[in-house]
Amino acid sequence: EKLVDEGFSKKDTIVGIGGGSVTDLAGFIASTFKRGTKLEFYPTTLLSQVDASIGGKNGLNFKGIKNMIGTVKMPDRVMIDPVVPISMDERFDEGLVEAFKIFVLFGDGYHEFKEKIDDLKKRKLKILLDLIKKAVELKLKVVERDPNDEGIRHSLNFGHTLGHVFEAIKKLPHGICVGWGMVKEMEFFRMKGFVSDEMVDDVEETVGNLIGDDILKMSIDVEEAFEYLRNDKKGSGDLVRMPVIHDVGRFEFKSFRLREILEVLS
Ligand SMILES: NC(=O)c1ccc[n+]([C@@H]2O[C@H](COP(=O)([O-])OP(=O)(O)OC[C@H]3O[C@@H](n4cnc5c(N)ncnc54)[C@H](O)[C@@H]3O)[C@@H](O)[C@H]2O)c1
Repeated sequence: EKLVDEGFSKKDTIVGIGGGSVTDLAGFIASTFKRGTKLEFYPTTLLSQVDASIGGKNGLNFKGIKNMIGTVKMPDRVMIDPVVPISMDERFDEGLVEAFKIFVLFGDGYHEFKEKIDDLKKRKLKILLDLIKKAVELKLKVVERDPNDEGIRHSLNFGHTLGHVFEAIKKLPHGICVGWGMVKEMEFFRMKGFVSDEMVDDVEETVGNLIGDDILKMSIDVEEAFEYLRNDKKGSGDLVRMPVIHDVGRFEFKSFRLREILEVLS
């Protein structure tokens, strides 16, 4: 309404300055207002710097379902200043979770992350800068190969199938829920015999260090989770495609029935 009232045109630039919530909304507005304006992001949370502002996907929740509405629109410019998220409260660590997710998937940066986790949590600038660069570089490689999210980009959903259910039910921040989802999904892959105990424990220990073991101990009602997933995945049948982690930097896609995945919660 404001854009119309103030006479904004296609040639104007919508600038999203903030965390992932703001950049997602700005991206959606820029892709739909007059069928598309220019778009720039100045992400201010660590999570938005390493993930949400990269790759052009935006999502709005609708009817209680995460990212039910959204588009893909690449920003014309993303400006990342690693000093900016240093002023965050404890939610800073949620950005470390999304970065760690990328390192688990692609291997690069994984061991370094584990080695430097204490310094990262202390927000040491040089180490933080290297982490942001590495995470952005890895995500961009995936996005360049699959900008429309039709193949390899689905790998970035690691932790999100169960994480989104947890987020909808517990109403906790996104990064925390992705961490919980990563651990539960690893436990599911172990149940299926796809991954070693050591690898699951390794991810669990690191994520626990970031979001707290109390969160990892939280459980959700299986039937409530089933209802959410059924609505979320409506249209894609009973099967959910997930990146199955075999080891650091090694995964393959497999499809599972909803009920099968939820067995890990009982
Ligand atoms: N589009 C994508 O590819 C993508 C990827 C990951 C996450 N997301 C979305 O991003 C959202 C989460 O983003 P988020 O974790 O950035 O949270 P957020 O946008 O909700 O911001 C978290 C909090 O940090 C505050 N904040 C922002 N910058 C700050 C700073 N520099 N110093 C102090 N406080 C600051 C905000 O006011 C807010 O209270 C979720 O909705 C998620 O779905 C989108």
